[in-house]
This record gives sequence, C-alpha cells and structure tokens, in this order.
Amino acid sequence: MLLTLLGLVLGALGGAAAAAGFIKSPLSQKQLTDDSVELYCEAVGSPIPEIQWWYEGADPNDTAIQLWDGAWQDRVKINATYKQHSTSTISIANLTLNDSGTYECRASNDPDRNHLSKSPKIKWIRSQANVIVIERPQISSTPEVTSGSNVVISCNITDPPSPIKSHYWMKGETRLDSNETALGFTSYMIAKVDPESSGEYHCVFDTVPISRATVYVKVKPHVFAYKKSEHGNEKDTGVLTCKSHSYPPVTQWSWFKVVDNVPEPIVNGSEERFFIKSEGNRTDLRIVSLDLEKDPGEYMCNGTNELGEGSAVVSLRVRSRLAALWPFLGIVAEVLVLVTIIFIYEKRRKPNEVPDDDDGGSAPLKSNAANHKDKNIRQRNAN
Ligand SMILES: *[C@@H]1O[C@H](CO)[C@@H](O)[C@H](O)[C@H]1NC(C)=O
Ligand SMILES: *[C@@H]1O[C@H](CO)[C@@H](O)[C@H](O)[C@H]1NC(C)=O
Ligand SMILES: *[C@@H]1O[C@H](CO)[C@@H](O)[C@H](O)[C@H]1NC(C)=O
Ligand SMILES: *[C@@H]1O[C@H](CO)[C@@H](O)[C@H](O)[C@H]1NC(C)=O
Ligand SMILES: *[C@@H]1O[C@H](CO)[C@@H](O)[C@H](O)[C@H]1NC(C)=O
Ligand SMILES: *[C@@H]1O[C@H](CO)[C@@H](O)[C@H](O)[C@H]1NC(C)=O
Ligand SMILES: *[C@@H]1O[C@H](CO)[C@@H](O)[C@H](O)[C@H]1NC(C)=O
Ligand SMILES: *[C@@H]1O[C@H](CO)[C@@H](O)[C@H](O)[C@H]1NC(C)=O
Ligand SMILES: *[C@@H]1O[C@H](CO)[C@@H](O)[C@H](O)[C@H]1NC(C)=O
Repeated sequence: MLLTLLGLVLGALGGAAAAAGFIKSPLSQKQLTDDSVELYCEAVGSPIPEIQWWYEGADPNDTAIQLWDGAWQDRVKINATYKQHSTSTISIANLTLNDSGTYECRASNDPDRNHLSKSPKIKWIRSQANVIVIERPQISSTPEVTSGSNVVISCNITDPPSPIKSHYWMKGETRLDSNETALGFTSYMIAKVDPESSGEYHCVFDTVPISRATVYVKVKPHVFAYKKSEHGNEKDTGVLTCKSHSYPPVTQWSWFKVVDNVPEPIVNGSEERFFIKSEGNRTDLRIVSLDLEKDPGEYMCNGTNELGEGSAVVSLRVRSRLAALWPFLGIVAEVLVLVTIIFIYEKRRKPNEVPDDDDGGSAPLKSNAANHKDKNIRQRNAN
C-alpha cells in the first residue's frame, strides 16, 4: 500500500527518477503434475522498470537460470505490459515434478541493469515464490458414455494430495447434485443420454490442490435448422443456418441441395454464389444474388462428429423483386387514401369554423362563484 502510494507520488512528479518497487509479488502455491501454474508480478518506478523471471531448482546445487517466453519446450509463457506500471505474468503448462522450485520476479530500472561489465548503481530487486508440484492422484473414472438411460458415472480417488473435504460434480459451470457415499468415491446418475445431457462431466474432490477427473458423455450431432424456412428477395443474399448444441462439437459440416429427393453436395465458392462458413456449433450457407428459378427448394445441412452424423432441412423461398414491392405499394396507396380523406375533410370543415370562446374553460367556475354569492345574499336576506 505504502509502496503503491510512493509509486504514484513519484510517478506524478514525472521524469524524476525513482527506484523500482514491487506493488504485487508472486504467491507461493502447490500444483499437481500436468496442471499449470501462473505467477504474477507488478512493479512501479520511474523510468518504468523491466521485469525478469528466474528459476532455481529445489536441488541445493542448482543455480538460478533466467526464464524466457517459450522456454522449457514452450511450456513457459511470459506476458508483460509496460504501461504506467510494469506487470508480468509467467505461466508454466504441463507441470512436472521437476518444475518444483523457487520462482523469482526481478525488477530494475537502472540504465546499466543489463550491462555486462558495469555494475548497476541500483541492484535488481527480487521477490520469490515457491512452487511445489506433487504427483497427480489416481482417479479411476467411468469410461466415456454414448448411450443408455439411468447411467451411473463415477470416480474413485486413490492417494489424494490432502484429506478430502468434500466432493461434487460439475458440468460446464453448473454444479450437479451427487450421491454422498464414501469420501473417496462419488457417483452421478444421468437419466437419459441425449443431446441435452451430453457433455463433459467433472468429478471434483475438494483437496489441496483440487483433484478432478472428467467423464465424457457423447452423442451424434443433434443438428437443427435455425429457421426451418427462409425467405429472400430475388438478387438479394440469402443465408441458411444450421446449429448443433450436442457434445462433442461437429467437426465437419456440409450442405446439400435436395433435388428430386436426392441430396446434391454444394461446393463452397461454386458459381461464385454459394459460400459456406462453419464453426464448431454452427454453419451458414450464403447464397449471393438469389435466382427466382434455380434457388428455391430444400437445402440439407449435415454435421459429422466422431460418433456419427445429424442433418436438418431448410426450405428457401425466393420472391420476385416486384412481389417484394407489393406490400410497399399497398402502404403507399393506404397513405394516399388517408391523406386525400383528411384533405377533403379539412376543406369542408373550413367555412363552418367559428372562433373559439377564450373564456370557455373558466365560465363554469364563474357561475359557481356567482351561485355561491347568490346563496350568501339569499341567506343574509333570510336573516
Ligand atoms: C552437489 O555437488 C557436489 C559436488 O559438486 C556433489 O558431490 C553432490 O553430490 C551434489 N549434490 C546433489 C544433491 O546433486
Ligand atoms: C501439454 O500436454 C498436452 C497433452 O499431453 C499437449 O497436447 C499440449 O500441447 C502440451 N502443452 C504444452 C504447452 O506443451
Ligand atoms: C497479456 O496480458 C494482458 C493484460 O493482463 C492481456 O490483456 C492480454 O490478453 C495478455 N496476452 C496474452 C497473450 O495472454
Ligand atoms: C527431471 O529432470 C531429470 C534431470 O534433470 C530428468 O532426467 C528427468 O527426466 C526429468 N523428469 C521429468 C518428469 O521431466
Ligand atoms: C476404489 O479403487 C480401489 C483401488 O483401485 C478399490 O480397492 C476400491 O474398492 C474402489 N472403491 C470403490 C467404491 O469402487
Ligand atoms: C442417489 O441414490 C439413489 C439410490 O441409490 C438413487 O435413487 C438416486 O437417483 C441417486 N441420486 C443421484 C443424483 O445420483
Ligand atoms: C469457403 O470459402 C471462403 C472463401 O471463399 C472461406 O472464407 C471459407 O472459410 C470457406 N468455408 C469452408 C467451410 O471451407
Ligand atoms: C457451442 O455452443 C455452446 C453453447 O451452446 C458454447 O458454450 C460452446 O462454446 C460452443 N462451442 C463452440 C466450439 O463453438
Ligand atoms: C454427411 O456427411 C458425412 C461425412 O461428412 C457423410 O459420410 C454422410 O454420408 C453425409 N450424409 C448424407 C445424408 O449425405
């Protein structure tokens, strides 16, 4: 906090040199093999300090080595930003037991900091974190599921890295209710294997660090048309869309024009009019400059994944340009008729117009007051 303030104050002075200081230091942590670790470091100073990362193994004979982006067969990634503050994130993927050790964030803004012969006036400042990588526990889980109802999937953990506090299941971001049985064992029942229930199910054991395994529930693509029928105007561009929300995602999409009940493949870019754009869950067939004669009809999209294929049909109607004009002409005619009626009405009304009485609104009040006065007078007279 103090350092932050100091940094800001010094930064505000602008130009005035200030030694580098940390405002965030990397945190020590425990990770499992094959997981990844991320360490964050942030420093201030003027000029903006440079940040480096160094590693020193657990072995007492090891010497510190500098880490760079792409080191260790590309398992090391460093992302640094130098705006106002210096920030740097190092991440190490696919951890092995060998990656345990001390990771050091070093910062300096001394102009001579990287000079080989001159020693810098201000030394690099350092901040360390220990990373301990431990063997991933063995979790035996149900092999992948592709069909059935009331399917029970389960996980069984041996040698947890720490005592198990609890366990549960996750599908995406959703936490699922599971049956509490033994602490090292958990199961979940899938009522029916279908596109809806397909996905990646994670069993999670609450240990330090968290232990988890995945059970894959896979189905053939469940392909459906975004709109079962599409309309387009002649010469316009028509877009037909199919989607699939099942797991695993579609790996290949294709489109067909159904002619006499026979699907004929549509080649991307053919006639310079048919264009296919596909991504995991979705495919678009774009038809440029719709043809009134050739293009109407049924189109079929076909999605394939490792388990099979699924398809859907979209029908396309093309209206002629003129036909598209009819509703517009209708509205124009309607407006014309209305305008004419209003015009005639106004014309006939004009001579009959009488100037409005300005006092019209207050007249009843006046008469009320007058009535009241009359009443008073009458009362007084009676007295
Ligand atoms: C450290 O180095 C010394 C000699 O350089 C060697 O005798 C010793 O076995 C080494 N220790 C380890 C743990 O490698
Ligand atoms: C990590 O391991 C996985 C599976 O072994 C591999 O697909 C991936 O490319 C590895 N990542 C890196 C950065 O080495
Ligand atoms: C690097 O970090 C910045 C800010 O933290 C972030 O916006 C950016 O996406 C990161 N880049 C990569 C390649 O991770
Ligand atoms: C760990 O490092 C040693 C030598 O430094 C190497 O022989 C061994 O294969 C490494 N193990 C892993 C899992 O990378
Ligand atoms: C879990 O696995 C261990 C050894 O692999 C086995 O002895 C035990 O019976 C299993 N537990 C359950 C509930 O399946
Ligand atoms: C829990 O177990 C009971 C009986 O063993 C079963 O009827 C129920 O469906 C299970 N619930 C879940 C979420 O698996
Ligand atoms: C179809 O071709 C366009 C370029 O003409 C390209 O951008 C698109 O990715 C292609 N689509 C497929 C499914 O290959
Ligand atoms: C597929 O759609 C789901 C949501 O329906 C989304 O979470 C997922 O990221 C999509 N996958 C791809 C590869 O687009
Ligand atoms: C759908 O595509 C797959 C391969 O992409 C193909 O094997 C299959 O025959 C196609 N289905 C139809 C109905 O054309």
